[in-house]
Amino acid sequence: MVYVTRRVSFSAAHRLYNPSWTEERNQQVFDKCANPNGHGHNYVLEVTVAGTPDPETGYVIDLKVLAKVLEEEILAKVDHKHLNYDVDFLRGVNPTVENLAIAFWRILEDKLPAGRLYAVRVYESENNYAEYRGEPVGTAHNGLSYGARVHTAE
Ligand code: NI
Repeated sequence: MVYVTRRVSFSAAHRLYNPSWTEERNQQVFDKCANPNGHGHNYVLEVTVAGTPDPETGYVIDLKVLAKVLEEEILAKVDHKHLNYDVDFLRGVNPTVENLAIAFWRILEDKLPAGRLYAVRVYESENNYAEYRGEPVGTAHNGLSYGARVHTAE
């Protein structure tokens, strides 16, 4: 098995906020990240595909093709957007890096023409990232699924 990775970047705004909490609790937990009008990040997304190199091309997946999938399925929808308000597949999602990694996985898992999606890694800063590998993530305390309806869209 060989693992190949494509790295792309995008810029977006977000606000971390749990609508089932008071403003005070949101401020305590999310601090500056709960700023009502959001704040920005330069995100880096790394997508790793696992597979056996094709005997004729030597490729697990043509990285040009993977780049095009990432452009069309993710970047066109999130780059220079406000993740809480502008992105259909993030409606109702509290856009932490954890939840972004899960949401991007769910979009990409059935869109690869070759290989198997192995990992989705989202960097919010140089030092902070989340990686998701498709394992079950269970249910939040409010009964909602992670990566789904945590934040009520206005
Ligand atoms: Ni942030």
